[in-house]
Amino acid sequence: MEELIERAATDLIGSKYAIALTGAGISTESGIHDFRGPDGIWTKHPEAEMEAYEAYDKLVRNPKHHWEKMLEPNSFYRLFEEIGNADPNRGHLALAELEKVGMLKAVITQNVDGLHQKAGSQNVLEYHGGVAKLRCMSCGSRFPKSEYDLEKLYRDGQLPPRCRKCNGVLKGDGVYFGEAIPTDVAEASVEAALTCDLMLICGTSAVVYPFAELPRIARNKRAYSRRWGGLGPPAGEASTNVTIIEVNADPTPLTQERISSYFIQGKTGEVLPRIVEEVKKQRR
Ligand code: APR
Repeated sequence: MEELIERAATDLIGSKYAIALTGAGISTESGIHDFRGPDGIWTKHPEAEMEAYEAYDKLVRNPKHHWEKMLEPNSFYRLFEEIGNADPNRGHLALAELEKVGMLKAVITQNVDGLHQKAGSQNVLEYHGGVAKLRCMSCGSRFPKSEYDLEKLYRDGQLPPRCRKCNGVLKGDGVYFGEAIPTDVAEASVEAALTCDLMLICGTSAVVYPFAELPRIARNKRAYSRRWGGLGPPAGEASTNVTIIEVNADPTPLTQERISSYFIQGKTGEVLPRIVEEVKKQRR
């Protein structure tokens, strides 16, 4: 493990455009369950995962009913509400520190908990949205959830909440299964994957698409640059070689398919701070 920590620090120091990709695993040490780990939400409640696959269709068909179900006292949605109160852990803080010293350009996270921002990361792409926001299904505008009194709308039978710009239906900013990734975030993420020469993947099972495509885009830039109609930096700038470092409790398809250059098995809250310490040591 020590040798891999040293190698990751050396690779980070030598990188020109390093980005981090994160999943629910980086937040488990903040007390938030992941989805597919041994204590995962889907692992323990497979019926909830099935419901989650149907949620977007129900929202589109009957937004009022969907919102009323979500705001019922014991709804699954209330659980997500809880995660907004958690605190960042040493893994989040380590990534924020790497950004602060100019060694990490962006974090692309699947997590909706907002913990990277709470830890101090500035450039965070919330690939699956954020629990603290509402988003308009018509014009895509986002609003802080705190600006809407959802409980009052619920009591007064005034759901769904409406967009202040176009009066469209608002939904939680979190991306549902079957819902498109918001274009702004999707494009920025592909661009970052095409530009990076180092990708640090932390705490994700890498089984949910299109997020799990990002490491493959980084690994096969030329092919994707052509396919994406040249999206991303001019080919000259996109570094074709990339170091993909995976930090996870368990191996994933990225490990097995050798998309990752190397795999550091362990807890992100332990491994990432050790990489930061090693970076500081090597830069002395
Ligand atoms: N340190 C490192 N790895 C961890 C830790 C930890 N402290 N805790 C859990 N893990 C690992 C688990 O072993 C698992 O491989 O993190 C991974 C988390 O995987 P998932 O639970 O599948 O979470 P994620 O990859 O983020 O899921 C992607 O699925 O349900 C959707 O929208 C949801 O964004 C989520 C998406």
